[in-house]
Amino acid sequence: MSIPATTLPELITSRLILNQVQIEDAPQVFILRNDKLVNKYVDLPETPDEAAAANFIHKVNDYNLQNKGRYWAIRLKDNPQLIGSICLWNFDDNTNTAELGFTLLTDYWRKGYMQEALQCVLQYGFDDLHLTKIDGWTHQLNEASIGLMEKVGFTRNFELEKQAIVDESEKHMVIYTILNQH
Ligand SMILES: CC(C)(COP(=O)(O)OP(=O)(O)OC[C@H]1O[C@@H](n2cnc3c(N)ncnc32)[C@H](O)[C@@H]1OP(=O)(O)O)[C@@H](O)C(=O)NCCC(=O)NCCS
Repeated sequence: MSIPATTLPELITSRLILNQVQIEDAPQVFILRNDKLVNKYVDLPETPDEAAAANFIHKVNDYNLQNKGRYWAIRLKDNPQLIGSICLWNFDDNTNTAELGFTLLTDYWRKGYMQEALQCVLQYGFDDLHLTKIDGWTHQLNEASIGLMEKVGFTRNFELEKQAIVDESEKHMVIYTILNQH
């Protein structure tokens, strides 16, 4: 069964709205992609200015339209400014699996926001997209990312690491996996 194509759904949690990234979000996207602390363990292509951030926004929205993934802005219910993003990407139609990505502006760290967003996205991925499995790749020293994934039920996938991490440039990565239990 292939992953159903839909336009990006708006997802609502108790404190957050997850919806499409808009061109007006370019200043926040620019900060997210350039902040040294946010990207300490993340290797991103350069985003030198807000125009490059706007290009990135077009790219992720095209990505949604082409059913290659789902990329959401994270916003507080009482403030429309983008505070982070979360995505399911690298859809594999043969195995019905996806990979996970998430990032948050530092002012909002450690308030439970990403856990709230992630639990909602996992429910959508498993119940609506009928994914069988979601993998999260991260740097082995990224305690926040690993801690978050473990908290919501991901476990380290040593088997997949053995198969997938072959390149020397990726040896610092670890892979966490959560299976669809339904
Ligand atoms: C990873 C990240 C999104 C976590 O977001 P967050 O909203 O601060 O996380 P939450 O507050 O929802 O935390 C949920 C749980 O994750 C774990 N966690 C979060 N931050 C942690 C940290 N710095 N160290 C260890 N565990 C951490 C804890 O188990 C936490 O639960 P607790 O607060 O009850 O102990 C955020 O740190 C971030 O944006 N990091 C930079 C980007 C990044 O590395 N993305 C991942 C790329 S693979």
